[in-house]
Parts: sequence; structure tokens; C-alpha cells
Amino acid sequence: MAKPHILQVGPYPQWDEEPLNEAFQVHRYFEAEDKQAFLSQVGPQVRGIATRGELGANRTMIEACPNLEVISVYGVGYDAVDLGACRERGIRVTNTPDVLTNDVADLGIAMMLVQSRGIIGAETWVKDGSWAAKGLYPLKRRVWGRKAGVLGLGRIGFEVAKRLRGFDMDIAYSDVSAKPYAEGMEFVSDPVELARRSDFLFVTLAASAETRHIVGRAVIEALGPEGMLINISRASNIDEEVLLEALESRQLGSAALDVFEGEPKLNPRFLALDNVLLQPHHASGTVETRKAMGQLVRDNLMAHFDGRALLTPVI
Ligand code: 8YV
Repeated sequence: MAKPHILQVGPYPQWDEEPLNEAFQVHRYFEAEDKQAFLSQVGPQVRGIATRGELGANRTMIEACPNLEVISVYGVGYDAVDLGACRERGIRVTNTPDVLTNDVADLGIAMMLVQSRGIIGAETWVKDGSWAAKGLYPLKRRVWGRKAGVLGLGRIGFEVAKRLRGFDMDIAYSDVSAKPYAEGMEFVSDPVELARRSDFLFVTLAASAETRHIVGRAVIEALGPEGMLINISRASNIDEEVLLEALESRQLGSAALDVFEGEPKLNPRFLALDNVLLQPHHASGTVETRKAMGQLVRDNLMAHFDGRALLTPVI
């Protein structure tokens, strides 16, 4: 049987490229110099799109593929896929939930610790000779026992909260409603109130048009000059302009960020700040998780083309 044609939006690790090429006729969009010409040429043959969370598939891409049946996202977030365009044509969409939850939560916790205890600066203090020349490293802030807020207590937010319990933190969360599984955590429906009672505010919401800039001026001001904002979700959940202003003026204490508007070309103003920890969108970036994500991307595509039920459907 002829292999189904799929459009690959961005690169995957080698261990995913090989089985993908074995099972499908793969058209590598990311290698095309003239993307529009490439889409007009291969679009009509394409029955599936394999993409990544942050790359998604926009309406132009979807419309260039009139025979498209399924989009498989390597990532839990599917906000970059135009779901409206998919619904209009009955195109199925899948993602990779669960397999990445623990790694994403781990990185969020690591970012809190690294930033609060000044671990990056402390290493520089050792390496550049400051320890010997100047003596003790400046004192930093404690993590354990302090107040944490989790904005979005879904799969990832819950795993973050579970880990925070291990630091004896006082934990509260915001979500659309109180969660029955949130034992021992206070429900605070208003994100501004949550920020006000938090030393550390984790943003773990699935991004959508409704959550865009949910962390805006009011939340950032409520978190305040002693507060830390940790984002392991999507940049669109935060008003980046307001965040930058607040960090520059020290109205917000600090931030630890894994995601940025326009990434990987982030706003250069971030690079000039000494109160941010910047990470290259790699919260799910372990060998183990990325292997499981790649497998799930293929398993969903194969299930679709074999006429079986999708493993992790979005729509
Ligand atoms: C990326 C992500 O997909 O899960 C998500 O939503 O954004 C990530 O896991 C990953 O960086 C691979 O591109």
C-alpha cells in the first residue's frame, strides 16, 4: 500500500525521523526555502501534518492542504493549531499529554530553586574568582515554607503543586473551578488575589484566546517586588511588555521563563536583565519524554490511517 503523504513542520530528533520516514512519505516543510511554493506543490497530496507544540499549523498551511485529514502535535499545547479551520473541515487533531507532565513540572521547580537561591550567579562567583577575591556570595531567598500560587491546576499544575508540598510550601491555586483532587491547597478564583498571596507564582495554564495576557498588569503588581513569576506554559499567557517594564523597574522581583513571544528570537530587553532566569523552551526536553512524545505522534498518525481510534485526540 502507498505510504500516506505527511507534511513535517519542524525537525525531530533522529530517532523519530527514521521511523517517520519509514511509515510515511514525508515532506519537510522546514527545509523549504520558498515555503509558499513548497506548500502549493506538495499541499494537495498531504493527508497528515506532523508538527510541534510551538509551531502548530495555521490556517494558510491547513488551507494549502485540501486533502488534510489529521494533525499530530508533538507537545501538549495545541494553541498554535488553528482549531477553527480544522473543525470547519472535520480535520482531526492529536497532542501528547501525560507523557511530558512530570518533566515539565520538574523544570518549573528547578527554575524556582535556581532563581531563588541565585545558583547561576553563585557558580559564576566561584568560576570568576570572586569567592576568593571578595568572600561570601550575597545572601538569597529561601524557598521552603513560603507561599506558592499555581495558575491553572491541570495535569502540569497539579504535578508542580505536588512537588511544592515536598518543600512544605503554603499552596494555593486558581482555575475555572475548585478541583476535587486539590487536597490541602486553597482555591482562589481570582488570579490577582492568588498573586497577592504568593511569593512564587507558577503559570501552568493551557493557552487559548481566553487566557491571553491573563497575567497582566494587575497580577504582576499584586505579585510585587518580592515576588517571582515562573512560566512553563506559553508566552501568550503573560503580557510580556508589562512583564518587561515591571522587571526593569523592579516592581516585580524576578522571573524564571521557559517561553517567549516570537521565540526563539526573544525580546533583547530580557538579555539585559539580572533578575530573570531564561530557558530555551525545553521543559519537556529529556531523552525519555521526547522519545515518548515522538512515539505518540506516530502512533496517532498510524491509528488514523489504519482506521483505528486516535490515542490522544484533541478534536
Ligand atoms: C514542545 C510544548 O512541543 O508540550 C508543549 O506544548 O510546547 C513542548 O513540549 C517541545 O518544545 C517540542 O517542540
